Amino acid sequence: MEPLYEGKAKRLYKTDDAEVLRMEYKDEATAFNAEKKAVFESKGKLNKAITLLLYKMLEDKGVKTHLHADLDEVNLLVKKVEILLVEVIVRNVAAGSFSKRVGVAEGTPFKTPIVEFSYKSDELGDPLINDDYAREMGLATEAECALLKKQALVVNEVLIDFFQKCGLRLIDFKIEFGRLSSGEIVLADEVSPDTCRLWDAETGKKLDKDRFRQDLGDVMEGYQEVLRRIEEVK
Ligand code: TMP
Repeated sequence: MEPLYEGKAKRLYKTDDAEVLRMEYKDEATAFNAEKKAVFESKGKLNKAITLLLYKMLEDKGVKTHLHADLDEVNLLVKKVEILLVEVIVRNVAAGSFSKRVGVAEGTPFKTPIVEFSYKSDELGDPLINDDYAREMGLATEAECALLKKQALVVNEVLIDFFQKCGLRLIDFKIEFGRLSSGEIVLADEVSPDTCRLWDAETGKKLDKDRFRQDLGDVMEGYQEVLRRIEEVK
C-alpha cells in the first residue's frame, strides 16, 4: 500500500476509518536536515514503544494527543490531524543549535525554560521563527501560538518530572501539534530519543540522537536504555 505521506522517520497510511491513520516508525535516521543518513535496526520499534508509553503517560496527566491505539511492533493508530507547520522546541539546558547560535556552553541550565518556534519546512531546514512570523505566514494565529507555548510548557513539566524518576535529565525536545477534524489542537507526531535530548542524571551520558549526530557510537543502546528505564517507572 502506498503511504499517504512519508517523512524522514515515519510513514502514514490510510485505514478503513477515515478519521484514523496508521503511523509506521522507520529504522532510518537523519540529522542536520538529512545531510547525514543511516539505518539503525530496531529504531522504529524502540521509538514506537517509547512514544506510546510517553503518550499514555501524558494522556493520564491530562495532555491530549493524537494517539488512538497501539497496533503492532512498529505501528500506532493515530487520529487524523492536520499538522501545524510550527514546530515547538522547549529547552531546559543549553545544547545543540542554541549553543551554536549564541555561544552558550552546552550543559548550561536555564532558570526558566526557553520556548522556540520553527517553520516545519524540509526545503528551508526548519528555520527559527517567532509568533509574528507564524501569524503573517498563516501558520498559526496569535492565540494559537500562545496555546502552543502554554501546552509545550505543560508537556515539559510532565516530562521533566517523569524522566527524573527514570534517572534521566530532559535537556530539550521538539514537539508538533495537529488539528483534529473537530478543530481541537492536540499533541501529534512522536516523543522519542529522536526528538528529545536525554542525559543520564548521574553521569551526563547522552542517550539520544546526539549519539548519532556526534558519532558517539552505540546509538540504539542509548534508545534501549531509555525504553528500559521508562518501562520500569511507568
Ligand atoms: P536543536 O538544538 O538542534 O535545535 O534541537 C532541539 C531539540 O529538537 C532536540 O531535542 C532535537 C530536536 N529536533 C528534532 O526533533 N528535529 C529536528 O529537526 C531538529 C533540528 C531538532
